[in-house]
Amino acid sequence: MAKKGSTVFVCQECGYESSKWMGQCICGAWNTMVEEKIAEVKDGDKRRRASAKESPSGGVKAGKPSKLLEISSGEKGRLDTGIGELNRVLGGGLVLGSLTLISGEPGIGKSTIIIQAAANIASREGVVLYVSGEESENQIKIRADRVCRGLSDNLFILAETNMENIAAVCEELKPVFLIIDSIQTMYTADLDSAPGSVSQVRGCGNELMRIGKVKNIPVFIVAHVTKTGDLAGPRIVEHMVDCVLSFTGDRSHEMRILRAQKNRFGTTSEIGAFEMSEEGLLEIENLSGTLLEEMDENSEGAIATAVYEGTRPLVLEVQALTSPTNIGFARRTSIGIDNSRLNMIIAVLEKKMGLSLMNQDVYVNIVGGIKPEGTYTDLAVALAVYSSYRGKALGSRTLVLGEIGLTGDLRAVQNGEKILREAARLGFERVILPIKNAEKLAKPLVDINKERGESNMKRVELTGMKNIREVQRMFTP
Ligand SMILES: Nc1ncnc2c1ncn2[C@@H]1O[C@H](COP(=O)(O)OP(=O)(O)O)[C@@H](O)[C@H]1O
Ligand SMILES: [Mg+2]
Ligand SMILES: [Zn+2]
Repeated sequence: MAKKGSTVFVCQECGYESSKWMGQCICGAWNTMVEEKIAEVKDGDKRRRASAKESPSGGVKAGKPSKLLEISSGEKGRLDTGIGELNRVLGGGLVLGSLTLISGEPGIGKSTIIIQAAANIASREGVVLYVSGEESENQIKIRADRVCRGLSDNLFILAETNMENIAAVCEELKPVFLIIDSIQTMYTADLDSAPGSVSQVRGCGNELMRIGKVKNIPVFIVAHVTKTGDLAGPRIVEHMVDCVLSFTGDRSHEMRILRAQKNRFGTTSEIGAFEMSEEGLLEIENLSGTLLEEMDENSEGAIATAVYEGTRPLVLEVQALTSPTNIGFARRTSIGIDNSRLNMIIAVLEKKMGLSLMNQDVYVNIVGGIKPEGTYTDLAVALAVYSSYRGKALGSRTLVLGEIGLTGDLRAVQNGEKILREAARLGFERVILPIKNAEKLAKPLVDINKERGESNMKRVELTGMKNIREVQRMFTP
């Protein structure tokens, strides 16, 4: 091992250490090697515990095997945050002893959602400690007064950036929930490097993991990201934690989307939707309705479609625009769907529907900042491009759904019935979908239309289609 006081070059992306400076790290990143003092503990005996195996009593002991049968599965051990959308993204609340990272651009609302959850947990479960290295106690109080409905005397604020002091306060307060806002401002006196460096983030992360595990409490860590969506500072923290949540949205609009990028205790396909308001973040219950609010069904290039995200159907709007290319290659730009998926759909449109898009720029956007997973939106994207290119609207109250294969055939999607019910609830009267889905939905459709008949609503009609040529014929009289 190197002498104390000597230095090492550490990649700020992946944490790789090298004794010499390198222009490109082994992880492929350029100019990420930064000279840091050797990450050696100053006070060997006392502080090495961060990395050593430890028993809950505090002493170091060797690992002992346990009978799997006798280990409690911990599934009961979840803390309700009092925010339904947050609980759902987490997979049913905060797992005791877990580390969760919430990342997002400055100003997106990370501190807001966290203080709201903190206030809820403090009033129901016990002491909550909110540590901030970003803001003064005063600033936090002003926000809390604005966004929390009633403050419990169990909610404690600590303006601190030193991990040793934070650990000491935890010993004293014994919180049931600990929040660190943000990891980039924290440091441990064991290390000489600056807050936000790889060694500091790793050191602080280890210490927080230790606190969480020993006390069996959930720990929430806030992290900033840059404009391009990368973590500002070391990625290493993403590997250390159990869950990574990202909070996104357009700051000029009120809607905010929370999704899990990594979750050891649940799926990563759930999304949570919020609206930023004077009173803090409000949960959006009818997300489909909100997404369709501004849709003009009579304008060309706008198509309603549906996806199944996590455990619920979601109806949303796809927009496309084609316009003649001025110079050079035609552009394909997509927001919310994979660019290579768009390229494939365009190829199918050209080959199977005879469209000539070689000299057309194509833009596709999923409204509301949603990035749906899966292939549910294929047919809607194709029809939106087609509709814009032909300058013809699809007609109102119509929803389009289905995966497109390379042959131009339409392939069935999952959870058709739940999607159909959501579409019916939102007032759609016609659903164009793969024939396989239509066949399966014939029975539920009878029930849905019976209910609608009773409340004097128009029937829903299903149009099952085999391939994209059939869909095209439907629109070309
Ligand atoms: N008085 C207010 N009324 C409504 N919204 C506000 C008010 N003050 C701040 N906000 C909103 O809160 C956001 C800041 O949230 P915050 O939780 O501090 O973000 P982060 O912690 O992610 O940087 C602002 O961008 C703004 O949208
Ligand atoms: Mg903040
Ligand atoms: Zn690297």
